Amino acid sequence: MVSITSFKTSRSEEIFASAQKLMPGGVSSPVRAFKSVGGQPIVFDRVKGSHIWDVDGNEYIDYVGTWGPAICGHAHPEVLAALRDALDKGTSFGAPCVLENVLAEMVIDAVPSIEMVRFVNSGTEACMSVLRLMRAFTGREKIIKFEGCYHGHADMFLVKAGSGVATLGLPDSPGVPKSTTSSTLTAPYNDLEAVKALFAENPGEIAGAILEPVVGNSGFIPPDAGFLEGLRLLTQEHGALLVFDEVMTGFRISYGGAQAKFGVTPDLTTLGKVIGGGLPVGAYGGRKDIMSMVAPAGPMYQAGTLSGNPLAMTAGIKTLELLQKAGSYEHLDRVTTKLVEGLLEIAKETGHPAMGGSISGMFGFFFNGDPVHNYDDAKKSDLTKFGRFHRGMLEQGVYLAPSQFEAGFTSLAHTDEDIDKTLSAAREVMKQL
Ligand SMILES: Cc1ncc(COP(=O)(O)O)c(C=O)c1O
Repeated sequence: MVSITSFKTSRSEEIFASAQKLMPGGVSSPVRAFKSVGGQPIVFDRVKGSHIWDVDGNEYIDYVGTWGPAICGHAHPEVLAALRDALDKGTSFGAPCVLENVLAEMVIDAVPSIEMVRFVNSGTEACMSVLRLMRAFTGREKIIKFEGCYHGHADMFLVKAGSGVATLGLPDSPGVPKSTTSSTLTAPYNDLEAVKALFAENPGEIAGAILEPVVGNSGFIPPDAGFLEGLRLLTQEHGALLVFDEVMTGFRISYGGAQAKFGVTPDLTTLGKVIGGGLPVGAYGGRKDIMSMVAPAGPMYQAGTLSGNPLAMTAGIKTLELLQKAGSYEHLDRVTTKLVEGLLEIAKETGHPAMGGSISGMFGFFFNGDPVHNYDDAKKSDLTKFGRFHRGMLEQGVYLAPSQFEAGFTSLAHTDEDIDKTLSAAREVMKQL
């Protein structure tokens, strides 16, 4: 299987050429288009466990995991069986269903900050709703976000949300009014002094701070010692809320997310990806007094036709049940550490300056000789080299996220054999970079 000797992607190319006439850029979400690594995207045919197959019949070991949800491995037989049973009862009720209670209880039991939860359909929706709630609860408009953190594509978050513009509060995308982002203050990740300065410059005006507690959208960047604790204290001191966007880290870097891992409890949390087990689910939750403001319990309006639908709830419940099994996180930790340590070792042997790290099943790897503490550091990575590495790995049967600025993911289905094969592929590719 892996190690594709005659790598052909003609069918992928054909399908993508038609797709470009039908959909902007030929994709339903931009990063899939391979713009930052060059070349054309691979069109998938099917996924199973830790592997994916494309329409030309090539097989790859997958480290994207549908951008995070596939933590148990793709198309897990127990998730599929539960979905088949649920399907017989219908796809959407648009009315209360007991499965919502089951998943809500699981989330509340697992995530320290969550006493009540609202289900939505995506991480974007969770983050834009939590922002409204931050403002509704505090009566303040300004928020702090961190450079290189992505919280979905709602207008007010499209400031320094990736390859951002340099000026404070300026939108990253046309179509986002300046008036919408003028209340979005930004600070470098891991920089408490910058946050202190923002609070000092905007007394009594900041509703709260939102961040990825471990960044995955500038590549993998963990918090420096004391950063999350410092934010907790600063927000409390200024009567502001602390929000962890755990859409990526939730149920991934530990069962209780980053907040359980680091022992810092925010006021509110957003979730997505893993809690939907591959179906569209997002959620936001937190302290009961804050969540009680959400309609219909309170005045802050937020709604959704398909929210809490039985199929999405079923996939989420089964996925969390599988993660609860003894040894799940130990497995993720072991295979991911082996992968990243191996990659760094090979980079060293082959003379490529590199940095990397992992927590449980989330990892990152930069072609950068210096430590990476924030997005500016990440941007100094050798992006051209990453593009060549990405292409080389693809040809060797390894599917990595098509951007230096994306975290990678492993799953319960990744085996030692997968990691060994990935490392042999990396050795071949790095020798020729
Ligand atoms: C941390 C974080 N927040 C929010 C989102 C948005 O989630 P979605 O793509 O489900 O809208 C993402 C997506 O990658 C994310 O990584």
